[in-house]
Amino acid sequence: MDIDTGDLTFQLKDQNLFKQKCFINGEWVDSDSLDTFDVHNPSDLTLVGSMPNCSKSDTIKAIDAANNSWVAWKKLTGKDRSIIIRKWHELILENIDDLALIMTLENGKPIADSRGEIIYASWFTDWFSEEAKRTYGKTIPSTMADRRMMSIKQPIGVCGIITPWNFPAAMITRKVAPALAAGCPVVIKPAGSTPFSATALVELAHRAGVPKGVINLISVSEENVSEVGDELCTNNHVRKISFTGSTNVGRALIAKTASTIKKVSMELGGHAPLIIFEDADLDQAVEGAMANKYRNSGQVCVSANRIFVHEKIYDEFAKKFSERSAALKVSDGREDGAQIGPLITMSAVEKVQSHVEDAVSKGAKVMTGGALDNAGKQFYKPTVMTNVTNKMKIFYEETFGPVAPLIKFSSEEEVIKMANDSNYGLAGYFYSRDIGRIYRVAEALEYGMVGINAGVISTEVAPFGGIKESGIGREGAAEGIDEYLETKYMLIAGIDD
Ligand code: SIN
Repeated sequence: MDIDTGDLTFQLKDQNLFKQKCFINGEWVDSDSLDTFDVHNPSDLTLVGSMPNCSKSDTIKAIDAANNSWVAWKKLTGKDRSIIIRKWHELILENIDDLALIMTLENGKPIADSRGEIIYASWFTDWFSEEAKRTYGKTIPSTMADRRMMSIKQPIGVCGIITPWNFPAAMITRKVAPALAAGCPVVIKPAGSTPFSATALVELAHRAGVPKGVINLISVSEENVSEVGDELCTNNHVRKISFTGSTNVGRALIAKTASTIKKVSMELGGHAPLIIFEDADLDQAVEGAMANKYRNSGQVCVSANRIFVHEKIYDEFAKKFSERSAALKVSDGREDGAQIGPLITMSAVEKVQSHVEDAVSKGAKVMTGGALDNAGKQFYKPTVMTNVTNKMKIFYEETFGPVAPLIKFSSEEEVIKMANDSNYGLAGYFYSRDIGRIYRVAEALEYGMVGINAGVISTEVAPFGGIKESGIGREGAAEGIDEYLETKYMLIAGIDD
Protein backbone atom coordinates (compact mmCIF):
# COMPACT_ATOMS: atom_id res chain seq x y z
CA MET A 1 0.00 0.00 0.00
CA ASP A 2 1.25 3.46 -0.82
CA ILE A 3 0.61 6.00 1.87
CA ASP A 4 -0.61 9.18 0.28
CA THR A 5 0.66 12.18 2.16
CA GLY A 6 -0.87 14.73 -0.19
CA ASP A 7 1.92 15.83 -2.48
CA LEU A 8 4.26 13.02 -1.45
CA THR A 9 3.94 9.29 -1.50
CA PHE A 10 6.15 6.97 0.40
CA GLN A 11 6.59 3.29 0.36
CA LEU A 12 7.16 1.14 3.38
CA LYS A 13 9.17 -2.04 3.04
CA ASP A 14 6.44 -3.80 5.00
CA GLN A 15 3.20 -2.10 4.03
CA ASN A 16 1.24 -3.99 6.67
CA LEU A 17 2.90 -1.95 9.37
CA PHE A 18 0.79 1.07 8.51
CA LYS A 19 -2.45 0.39 10.35
CA GLN A 20 -5.31 2.85 10.42
CA LYS A 21 -7.41 0.90 12.91
CA CYS A 22 -7.69 0.15 16.60
CA PHE A 23 -6.57 -3.14 18.04
CA ILE A 24 -9.03 -4.82 20.39
CA ASN A 25 -8.97 -8.45 21.52
CA GLY A 26 -6.41 -9.44 18.87
CA GLU A 27 -8.18 -7.79 15.91
CA TRP A 28 -7.77 -4.58 13.93
CA VAL A 29 -11.15 -2.85 14.14
CA ASP A 30 -13.02 0.40 13.46
CA SER A 31 -14.69 2.42 16.18
CA ASP A 32 -18.32 1.55 17.03
CA SER A 33 -19.43 4.86 15.53
CA LEU A 34 -17.26 4.38 12.39
CA ASP A 35 -16.19 7.97 13.01
CA THR A 36 -12.57 8.76 12.15
CA PHE A 37 -10.11 11.62 12.55
CA ASP A 38 -7.25 12.71 10.31
CA VAL A 39 -3.56 12.88 11.15
CA HIS A 40 -1.39 15.46 9.38
CA ASN A 41 2.33 15.74 8.85
CA PRO A 42 3.44 18.81 10.86
CA SER A 43 6.13 19.54 8.24
CA ASP A 44 3.82 20.26 5.34
CA LEU A 45 0.35 19.65 6.83
CA THR A 46 -0.40 16.89 4.30
CA LEU A 47 -2.59 13.97 5.33
CA VAL A 48 -0.72 10.99 6.76
CA GLY A 49 -3.79 8.85 7.44
CA SER A 50 -6.98 8.47 9.47
CA MET A 51 -7.73 6.65 12.69
CA PRO A 52 -10.94 5.49 14.37
CA ASN A 53 -12.38 8.10 16.70
CA CYS A 54 -13.21 5.94 19.71
CA SER A 55 -15.68 6.65 22.44
CA LYS A 56 -16.71 5.14 25.77
CA SER A 57 -18.11 1.92 24.25
CA ASP A 58 -14.85 1.14 22.38
CA THR A 59 -12.88 1.86 25.53
CA ILE A 60 -15.01 -0.54 27.56
CA LYS A 61 -14.54 -3.25 24.90
CA ALA A 62 -10.75 -2.81 25.04
CA ILE A 63 -10.72 -2.85 28.86
CA ASP A 64 -12.91 -5.98 28.95
CA ALA A 65 -10.67 -7.74 26.43
CA ALA A 66 -7.64 -6.87 28.55
CA ASN A 67 -9.31 -8.00 31.74
CA ASN A 68 -10.40 -11.32 30.21
CA SER A 69 -6.87 -12.03 29.03
CA TRP A 70 -5.31 -11.28 32.40
CA VAL A 71 -5.54 -14.63 34.19
CA ALA A 72 -3.86 -16.57 31.40
CA TRP A 73 -1.19 -13.90 30.88
CA LYS A 74 -0.24 -13.63 34.53
CA LYS A 75 -0.11 -17.42 34.86
CA LEU A 76 2.65 -17.67 32.27
CA THR A 77 6.09 -17.79 33.83
CA GLY A 78 8.23 -14.68 33.67
CA LYS A 79 10.48 -16.62 31.35
CA ASP A 80 7.62 -17.33 28.92
CA ARG A 81 6.66 -13.66 28.86
CA SER A 82 10.31 -12.77 28.46
CA ILE A 83 10.56 -14.85 25.27
CA ILE A 84 7.62 -12.99 23.71
CA ILE A 85 8.96 -9.54 24.67
CA ARG A 86 12.39 -10.51 23.32
CA LYS A 87 10.76 -11.44 19.99
CA TRP A 88 8.97 -8.07 19.97
CA HIS A 89 12.34 -6.41 20.56
CA GLU A 90 13.90 -8.23 17.59
CA LEU A 91 11.00 -7.30 15.31
CA ILE A 92 11.30 -3.62 16.28
CA LEU A 93 14.95 -3.60 15.26
CA GLU A 94 14.27 -5.55 12.06
CA ASN A 95 11.70 -2.92 11.05
CA ILE A 96 13.63 0.18 12.07
CA ASP A 97 13.49 1.82 8.61
CA ASP A 98 9.72 1.63 8.37
CA LEU A 99 9.15 2.60 11.99
CA ALA A 100 11.43 5.63 11.62
CA LEU A 101 9.72 6.75 8.42
CA ILE A 102 6.26 6.48 9.97
CA MET A 103 7.47 8.50 12.95
CA THR A 104 9.00 11.24 10.83
CA LEU A 105 5.79 11.57 8.83
CA GLU A 106 3.49 11.91 11.78
CA ASN A 107 5.77 13.73 14.25
CA GLY A 108 8.05 15.62 11.87
CA LYS A 109 11.30 14.79 13.65
CA PRO A 110 14.39 14.36 11.44
CA ILE A 111 14.75 10.83 10.17
CA ALA A 112 18.06 10.37 12.02
CA ASP A 113 16.29 11.29 15.27
CA SER A 114 13.44 8.92 14.48
CA ARG A 115 15.92 6.10 13.96
CA GLY A 116 17.57 7.09 17.22
CA GLU A 117 14.21 6.96 18.97
CA ILE A 118 13.42 3.49 17.63
CA ILE A 119 16.75 2.29 19.01
CA TYR A 120 15.95 4.01 22.31
CA ALA A 121 12.51 2.34 22.27
CA SER A 122 14.14 -1.04 21.72
CA TRP A 123 16.33 -0.61 24.80
CA PHE A 124 13.19 -0.94 26.92
CA THR A 125 11.99 -4.13 25.22
CA ASP A 126 15.51 -5.49 25.67
CA TRP A 127 15.73 -4.53 29.35
CA PHE A 128 12.23 -5.59 30.39
CA SER A 129 12.41 -8.90 28.53
CA GLU A 130 15.14 -9.66 31.09
CA GLU A 131 13.38 -8.06 34.06
CA ALA A 132 10.35 -10.32 33.45
CA LYS A 133 12.45 -13.08 35.08
CA ARG A 134 13.45 -10.99 38.10
CA THR A 135 10.29 -9.96 39.95
CA TYR A 136 11.76 -11.13 43.23
CA GLY A 137 9.90 -11.18 46.51
CA LYS A 138 11.50 -11.49 49.94
CA THR A 139 11.69 -13.95 52.77
CA ILE A 140 11.23 -12.05 56.01
CA PRO A 141 12.86 -13.26 59.22
CA SER A 142 9.89 -14.36 61.30
CA THR A 143 9.10 -12.84 64.68
CA MET A 144 7.67 -16.17 65.90
CA ALA A 145 9.35 -19.57 65.84
CA ASP A 146 6.42 -21.48 64.34
CA ARG A 147 5.83 -19.03 61.53
CA ARG A 148 7.39 -18.17 58.21
CA MET A 149 6.94 -14.87 56.45
CA MET A 150 7.49 -13.76 52.90
CA SER A 151 6.37 -11.28 50.30
CA ILE A 152 5.76 -11.95 46.63
CA LYS A 153 5.28 -9.59 43.69
CA GLN A 154 2.17 -9.95 41.54
CA PRO A 155 0.94 -8.05 38.47
CA ILE A 156 -1.40 -5.23 39.32
CA GLY A 157 -3.94 -5.91 36.54
CA VAL A 158 -5.19 -3.99 33.51
CA CYS A 159 -3.10 -0.88 32.82
CA GLY A 160 -4.23 2.18 30.90
CA ILE A 161 -1.22 3.50 28.99
CA ILE A 162 -1.53 7.09 27.77
CA THR A 163 1.40 8.22 25.64
CA PRO A 164 2.58 11.54 24.18
CA TRP A 165 3.36 12.69 20.65
CA ASN A 166 6.95 13.80 21.29
CA PHE A 167 8.33 10.26 21.68
CA PRO A 168 5.67 8.22 19.89
CA ALA A 169 7.59 4.91 20.12
CA ALA A 170 9.87 5.06 23.16
CA MET A 171 7.10 6.08 25.55
CA ILE A 172 5.09 3.05 24.41
CA THR A 173 7.89 0.55 25.01
CA ARG A 174 8.99 2.26 28.25
CA LYS A 175 5.50 1.61 29.67
CA VAL A 176 4.18 -1.44 27.80
CA ALA A 177 7.31 -3.61 28.03
CA PRO A 178 7.42 -3.51 31.86
CA ALA A 179 3.63 -3.96 32.09
CA LEU A 180 3.77 -7.05 29.89
CA ALA A 181 6.86 -8.32 31.68
CA ALA A 182 5.10 -8.00 35.04
CA GLY A 183 2.08 -9.93 33.75
CA CYS A 184 -0.30 -7.02 33.14
CA PRO A 185 -2.51 -6.59 30.05
CA VAL A 186 -2.69 -3.08 28.59
CA VAL A 187 -5.00 -0.65 26.83
CA ILE A 188 -2.89 1.94 25.00
CA LYS A 189 -4.22 5.39 24.09
CA PRO A 190 -1.54 7.07 21.93
CA ALA A 191 -1.53 10.80 21.23
CA GLY A 192 -4.05 11.72 18.53
CA SER A 193 -1.34 13.40 16.48
CA THR A 194 0.99 10.36 16.40
CA PRO A 195 -1.02 7.13 16.45
CA PHE A 196 0.75 5.31 13.61
CA SER A 197 4.02 4.62 15.42
CA ALA A 198 1.86 3.05 18.12
CA THR A 199 -0.20 0.92 15.75
CA ALA A 200 2.98 -0.29 14.03
CA LEU A 201 4.47 -1.29 17.39
CA VAL A 202 1.26 -3.07 18.38
CA GLU A 203 1.28 -4.96 15.07
CA LEU A 204 4.83 -6.10 15.84
CA ALA A 205 3.84 -7.13 19.38
CA HIS A 206 0.99 -9.15 17.87
CA ARG A 207 3.41 -10.82 15.44
CA ALA A 208 5.76 -11.53 18.34
CA GLY A 209 3.06 -13.65 19.93
CA VAL A 210 1.47 -11.39 22.55
CA PRO A 211 -1.83 -13.25 23.09
CA LYS A 212 -5.15 -11.71 22.10
CA GLY A 213 -6.52 -9.24 24.60
CA VAL A 214 -3.17 -8.66 26.31
CA ILE A 215 -2.34 -5.64 24.17
CA ASN A 216 -5.12 -3.32 22.98
CA LEU A 217 -5.00 0.09 21.35
CA ILE A 218 -7.73 2.69 21.06
CA SER A 219 -7.38 6.03 19.31
CA VAL A 220 -9.29 9.23 19.75
CA SER A 221 -9.12 12.76 18.43
CA GLU A 222 -7.92 15.50 20.79
CA GLU A 223 -11.49 16.89 20.81
CA ASN A 224 -13.03 13.65 22.17
CA VAL A 225 -10.16 12.58 24.37
CA SER A 226 -11.86 13.23 27.69
CA GLU A 227 -14.59 10.61 27.09
CA VAL A 228 -11.98 7.89 26.57
CA GLY A 229 -9.74 9.25 29.33
CA ASP A 230 -12.65 9.32 31.79
CA GLU A 231 -13.47 5.67 31.14
CA LEU A 232 -9.84 4.57 31.47
CA CYS A 233 -9.51 6.50 34.73
CA THR A 234 -12.77 5.40 36.34
CA ASN A 235 -13.38 1.84 35.09
CA ASN A 236 -12.97 -0.59 37.95
CA HIS A 237 -11.10 -3.17 35.88
CA VAL A 238 -8.30 -0.71 35.18
CA ARG A 239 -5.92 -0.91 38.13
CA LYS A 240 -3.20 1.44 36.96
CA ILE A 241 -2.76 4.49 34.74
CA SER A 242 0.62 5.34 33.32
CA PHE A 243 0.77 8.72 31.63
CA THR A 244 3.41 10.87 30.02
CA GLY A 245 2.39 14.41 29.14
CA SER A 246 1.73 17.82 30.60
CA THR A 247 1.40 18.54 34.30
CA ASN A 248 -2.10 19.95 33.81
CA VAL A 249 -3.40 16.83 32.10
CA GLY A 250 -1.62 14.64 34.67
CA ARG A 251 -3.30 16.55 37.48
CA ALA A 252 -6.72 16.01 35.87
CA LEU A 253 -6.05 12.28 35.36
CA ILE A 254 -4.93 11.83 38.98
CA ALA A 255 -8.15 13.49 40.14
CA LYS A 256 -10.22 11.18 37.95
CA THR A 257 -8.47 8.03 39.18
CA ALA A 258 -9.19 8.98 42.79
CA SER A 259 -12.74 7.58 42.64
CA THR A 260 -11.41 4.03 42.13
CA ILE A 261 -8.04 4.52 43.92
CA LYS A 262 -5.81 3.47 41.04
CA LYS A 263 -2.07 3.26 41.13
CA VAL A 264 -0.58 5.95 38.87
CA SER A 265 2.73 6.68 37.18
CA MET A 266 2.94 10.25 35.97
CA GLU A 267 5.82 11.54 33.89
CA LEU A 268 4.88 15.20 33.57
CA GLY A 269 6.31 18.53 32.56
CA GLY A 270 9.83 19.72 33.24
CA HIS A 271 11.63 23.02 33.33
CA ALA A 272 15.20 21.80 33.40
CA PRO A 273 18.02 24.09 34.48
CA LEU A 274 21.38 23.63 32.78
CA ILE A 275 24.15 25.33 34.74
CA ILE A 276 27.57 26.09 33.26
CA PHE A 277 30.03 26.87 36.04
CA GLU A 278 33.17 28.90 35.46
CA ASP A 279 35.36 25.79 35.89
CA ALA A 280 33.51 23.84 33.18
CA ASP A 281 35.11 22.58 29.99
CA LEU A 282 33.43 25.14 27.77
CA ASP A 283 33.50 23.16 24.52
CA GLN A 284 32.06 20.13 26.26
CA ALA A 285 29.36 22.34 27.76
CA VAL A 286 28.45 23.79 24.34
CA GLU A 287 28.28 20.26 22.93
CA GLY A 288 26.05 19.10 25.78
CA ALA A 289 23.79 22.13 25.51
CA MET A 290 23.34 21.53 21.77
CA ALA A 291 22.46 17.86 22.22
CA ASN A 292 20.12 18.64 25.07
CA LYS A 293 18.37 21.76 23.81
CA TYR A 294 17.72 20.78 20.22
CA ARG A 295 16.74 17.12 20.67
CA ASN A 296 13.33 16.84 19.00
CA SER A 297 13.39 20.62 18.36
CA GLY A 298 13.27 21.25 22.10
CA GLN A 299 9.97 19.37 22.47
CA VAL A 300 11.28 17.19 25.27
CA CYS A 301 10.27 17.23 28.91
CA VAL A 302 13.91 16.93 30.01
CA SER A 303 15.09 19.68 27.69
CA ALA A 304 17.01 22.59 29.26
CA ASN A 305 14.62 25.50 29.55
CA ARG A 306 16.89 27.80 31.52
CA ILE A 307 20.60 27.86 30.79
CA PHE A 308 22.49 29.51 33.65
CA VAL A 309 26.02 30.61 32.71
CA HIS A 310 28.61 32.00 35.11
CA GLU A 311 29.38 35.68 34.43
CA LYS A 312 33.08 34.97 33.73
CA ILE A 313 32.28 32.75 30.72
CA TYR A 314 28.85 34.08 29.77
CA ASP A 315 29.86 36.00 26.65
CA GLU A 316 32.14 33.28 25.32
CA PHE A 317 29.54 30.57 25.88
CA ALA A 318 26.79 32.71 24.32
CA LYS A 319 28.91 33.32 21.21
CA LYS A 320 29.93 29.70 20.67
CA PHE A 321 26.48 28.33 21.42
CA SER A 322 24.75 30.86 19.14
CA GLU A 323 27.10 30.12 16.26
CA ARG A 324 26.46 26.40 16.56
CA SER A 325 22.70 26.98 16.89
CA ALA A 326 22.58 29.19 13.79
CA ALA A 327 24.29 26.46 11.75
CA LEU A 328 21.62 23.82 12.41
CA LYS A 329 19.68 22.67 9.37
CA VAL A 330 15.97 23.37 9.76
CA SER A 331 13.91 21.31 7.33
CA ASP A 332 11.38 18.61 6.65
CA GLY A 333 12.63 15.58 8.56
CA ARG A 334 12.93 13.55 5.37
CA GLU A 335 15.59 15.84 3.89
CA ASP A 336 19.21 14.76 4.10
CA GLY A 337 20.96 16.26 7.08
CA ALA A 338 17.78 17.63 8.71
CA GLN A 339 18.44 18.60 12.34
CA ILE A 340 15.46 20.69 13.41
CA GLY A 341 11.98 19.61 12.41
CA PRO A 342 8.65 21.39 12.82
CA LEU A 343 6.77 22.01 16.03
CA ILE A 344 3.84 19.69 16.46
CA THR A 345 0.98 22.21 16.12
CA MET A 346 0.34 25.87 15.42
CA SER A 347 -0.51 26.42 19.07
CA ALA A 348 2.95 25.07 19.98
CA VAL A 349 4.42 27.64 17.57
CA GLU A 350 2.33 30.38 19.16
CA LYS A 351 3.53 29.47 22.64
CA VAL A 352 7.16 29.66 21.52
CA GLN A 353 6.52 33.00 19.83
CA SER A 354 4.80 34.39 22.91
CA HIS A 355 7.72 33.38 25.17
CA VAL A 356 10.25 35.01 22.87
CA GLU A 357 8.16 38.17 22.40
CA ASP A 358 7.58 38.50 26.13
CA ALA A 359 11.30 38.10 26.86
CA VAL A 360 12.32 40.58 24.18
CA SER A 361 9.77 43.12 25.42
CA LYS A 362 11.40 42.87 28.86
CA GLY A 363 14.96 43.33 27.67
CA ALA A 364 16.19 39.97 26.34
CA LYS A 365 18.52 40.11 23.34
CA VAL A 366 18.16 37.62 20.47
CA MET A 367 21.62 36.31 19.51
CA THR A 368 20.24 34.05 16.78
CA GLY A 369 16.82 32.96 15.55
CA GLY A 370 13.83 34.53 17.26
CA ALA A 371 11.55 34.00 14.27
CA LEU A 372 9.68 31.46 12.16
CA ASP A 373 11.78 29.58 9.63
CA ASN A 374 10.76 29.53 5.99
CA ALA A 375 10.95 25.69 5.90
CA GLY A 376 7.20 25.72 6.63
CA LYS A 377 4.42 27.19 8.76
CA GLN A 378 5.33 25.26 11.90
CA PHE A 379 9.11 25.63 11.82
CA TYR A 380 10.82 27.90 14.32
CA LYS A 381 14.48 28.86 14.07
CA PRO A 382 16.88 27.64 16.78
CA THR A 383 16.95 30.62 19.10
CA VAL A 384 19.44 31.83 21.67
CA MET A 385 18.56 34.78 23.92
CA THR A 386 20.81 36.61 26.35
CA ASN A 387 19.93 39.04 29.18
CA VAL A 388 17.14 36.73 30.35
CA THR A 389 15.82 37.35 33.86
CA ASN A 390 13.25 35.96 36.26
CA LYS A 391 10.82 38.69 35.23
CA MET A 392 10.13 36.87 31.97
CA LYS A 393 7.56 34.11 31.29
CA ILE A 394 10.28 31.87 29.91
CA PHE A 395 11.91 31.73 33.34
CA TYR A 396 8.93 29.90 34.88
CA GLU A 397 7.00 28.27 32.02
CA GLU A 398 8.00 25.26 29.94
CA THR A 399 8.56 26.50 26.36
CA PHE A 400 8.70 23.14 24.53
CA GLY A 401 10.54 24.54 21.54
CA PRO A 402 14.03 25.30 20.19
CA VAL A 403 14.58 28.36 22.37
CA ALA A 404 17.56 28.69 24.72
CA PRO A 405 17.38 31.49 27.30
CA LEU A 406 20.77 32.32 28.82
CA ILE A 407 20.77 33.67 32.37
CA LYS A 408 23.88 35.13 34.02
CA PHE A 409 24.86 34.16 37.57
CA SER A 410 27.76 34.95 39.86
CA SER A 411 27.79 32.37 42.67
CA GLU A 412 27.01 28.71 43.32
CA GLU A 413 24.54 29.59 46.06
CA GLU A 414 22.68 32.04 43.85
CA VAL A 415 22.38 29.65 40.91
CA ILE A 416 21.13 26.74 43.02
CA LYS A 417 18.43 29.00 44.39
CA MET A 418 17.42 30.12 40.88
CA ALA A 419 17.56 26.58 39.48
CA ASN A 420 15.27 25.29 42.24
CA ASP A 421 12.87 28.19 41.87
CA SER A 422 10.33 26.13 39.96
CA ASN A 423 7.30 23.93 40.64
CA TYR A 424 8.83 21.38 38.32
CA GLY A 425 11.46 18.82 39.34
CA LEU A 426 12.20 16.48 36.45
CA ALA A 427 15.79 16.85 35.21
CA GLY A 428 18.63 19.25 35.92
CA TYR A 429 22.13 19.44 34.44
CA PHE A 430 25.39 21.16 35.18
CA TYR A 431 28.94 21.38 33.91
CA SER A 432 31.83 21.60 36.37
CA ARG A 433 35.18 19.92 36.90
CA ASP A 434 35.35 20.56 40.63
CA ILE A 435 34.65 17.32 42.48
CA GLY A 436 33.45 19.02 45.65
CA ARG A 437 31.07 21.21 43.69
CA ILE A 438 29.85 18.21 41.70
CA TYR A 439 28.60 16.51 44.87
CA ARG A 440 27.31 19.72 46.47
CA VAL A 441 25.31 20.85 43.47
CA ALA A 442 24.02 17.40 42.47
CA GLU A 443 22.68 16.91 46.00
CA ALA A 444 21.21 20.41 46.23
CA LEU A 445 19.28 20.37 42.95
CA GLU A 446 15.62 19.52 43.59
CA TYR A 447 15.21 17.29 40.55
CA GLY A 448 14.53 13.58 40.06
CA MET A 449 17.47 13.27 37.64
CA VAL A 450 20.74 15.18 37.43
CA GLY A 451 23.18 15.08 34.52
CA ILE A 452 26.73 16.18 35.34
CA ASN A 453 28.92 17.05 32.37
CA ALA A 454 26.33 15.37 30.16
CA GLY A 455 23.46 16.79 28.11
CA VAL A 456 21.54 13.57 27.45
CA ILE A 457 21.02 11.11 30.29
CA SER A 458 18.08 8.93 29.24
CA THR A 459 18.70 5.20 29.28
CA GLU A 460 16.75 2.05 30.04
CA VAL A 461 19.08 1.07 32.89
CA ALA A 462 18.50 4.15 35.08
CA PRO A 463 15.30 5.32 36.79
CA PHE A 464 13.62 8.11 34.81
CA GLY A 465 11.16 10.35 36.64
CA GLY A 466 10.53 13.55 38.51
CA ILE A 467 9.60 15.09 41.81
CA LYS A 468 7.30 18.02 42.71
CA GLU A 469 4.86 18.75 39.86
CA SER A 470 6.94 16.73 37.40
CA GLY A 471 5.39 13.48 38.43
CA ILE A 472 5.12 10.30 40.40
CA GLY A 473 6.95 7.03 39.81
CA ARG A 474 9.95 5.92 37.82
CA GLU A 475 10.34 4.34 34.39
CA GLY A 476 13.13 2.07 33.21
CA ALA A 477 15.64 0.38 35.50
CA ALA A 478 14.68 -2.09 38.22
CA GLU A 479 12.13 0.45 39.49
CA GLY A 480 10.31 0.42 36.14
CA ILE A 481 8.75 -3.02 36.54
CA ASP A 482 7.83 -2.40 40.19
CA GLU A 483 5.35 0.21 39.00
CA TYR A 484 3.27 -2.64 37.53
CA LEU A 485 3.52 -4.98 40.52
CA GLU A 486 1.81 -5.23 43.88
CA THR A 487 3.54 -6.66 46.92
CA LYS A 488 1.67 -9.42 48.74
CA TYR A 489 2.72 -10.41 52.25
CA MET A 490 2.16 -14.07 53.21
CA LEU A 491 2.45 -15.62 56.65
CA ILE A 492 2.45 -19.37 57.23
CA ALA A 493 1.77 -20.49 60.81
CA GLY A 494 2.02 -23.89 62.46
CA ILE A 495 5.42 -24.81 61.06
CA ASP A 496 6.67 -26.39 64.30
CA ASP A 497 3.48 -28.32 65.20
C1 SIN B 1 9.92 12.88 27.28
O1 SIN B 1 10.22 14.00 26.90
O2 SIN B 1 8.75 12.63 27.57
C2 SIN B 1 10.92 11.76 27.41
C3 SIN B 1 12.33 12.13 27.19
C4 SIN B 1 13.30 10.99 27.35
O3 SIN B 1 12.89 9.84 27.55
O4 SIN B 1 14.50 11.24 27.30
